[in-house]
Order: sequence, then structure tokens, then C-alpha cells
Amino acid sequence: MNIVVNGTAHAIESGPLTPLLDVLREELEITGPKAGCHQGGCGACTVLVDGEPRRSCLLPVAYADGAEITTVEGLGTPESLAPIQQAFVHHYAAQCGFCTSGMLLAAQAYLDGGGTDDPEAIQEALGGHVCRCTGYAKIVDAVAAAARGESFDLTQTAVGKYTTVTTGGAT
Ligand code: FES
Ligand code: FES
Repeated sequence: MNIVVNGTAHAIESGPLTPLLDVLREELEITGPKAGCHQGGCGACTVLVDGEPRRSCLLPVAYADGAEITTVEGLGTPESLAPIQQAFVHHYAAQCGFCTSGMLLAAQAYLDGGGTDDPEAIQEALGGHVCRCTGYAKIVDAVAAAARGESFDLTQTAVGKYTTVTTGGAT
């Protein structure tokens, strides 16, 4: 079997029923997709398979034979984040980050499909993606901003939001 991950072709040695998630993480050492529930219920393992968001924990790699896979590593780079990644940073849509790669890929598929900034449509597109940290509102805000084509100066994102606390040096 062969799969293309983020533009690089790989010959797969794992058995055909091995979950795609395990092939990505264990065989190819691509760790962006996260193993949350491993039962299809959390969305943390979501990757794009030929552009469609799929739960990689439930997908035997044989079903992805010949497919193009996109993981979060293929969205952008630390130096050049994809717009949806910039929006997540700007809107503080990630805290622990465990859900984030799956959220980003589901959001990217939504945007690629012409998704708008309608909150209900975004919630539906991200339905089944569980986040224990953010309360979801910031995630929806981020996807909406990306849908509007907003851009962000991330060097200014936190400016003015926090005060610096200094310790010691009491007078
Ligand atoms: S790890 Fe795949 S849906 Fe939770
Ligand atoms: S940021 Fe922690 S689970 Fe979503």
C-alpha cells in the first residue's frame, strides 16, 4: 500500500486493517493527529483524506491506499502559518492543543468547501469535535474570521491583553 502524506509518498508496511492513525503516528512518526478516544467520538485524530475530513482512528489504512492525506503538519509551517492557524492563534482558540489539529483540519475542509462565517454552519461543520478547554466560542470565532478572509499581525495579538507582573525588588 502507498499513501501520500503532506505531499510525500510512503510505502506502508503495517497490515491493511491497521488504523490510519496508528500508521501515521507509529510507522511514519507524524504526530499531529492525536489519539483521543480511539473510538470515533472525539475528532482529535481527524485528517483530510483526498480533501475530506475523516476520523483516522476508525479508517483501516487499506481504505486510504493511494490517497492523499493532509495532517496539520501539511497546513502551514511555524514560520508561515496557514490562515486558519493564524486565526486560531489570534482568537486564542487553542489551550492544551490536543483537539486542535483535528479542529483545524475540519475547519480547513469547511473553508475549502466555501463555508461562511455563519456560527451555526461552523458549529455543524465542527460537530463531534470535543474540546475540554476553550468552551468552543473562540474556535467558532476563529473559523468565522478565517471565512471572512481576515488577516492578523500575530506579533500584536497579545499586546495590551496582559500586564507584566514583576516580583522581588521590594522598596
Ligand atoms: S481518536 Fe479518533 S475520534 Fe477520537
Ligand atoms: S484546546 Fe484543549 S481540548 Fe481543545
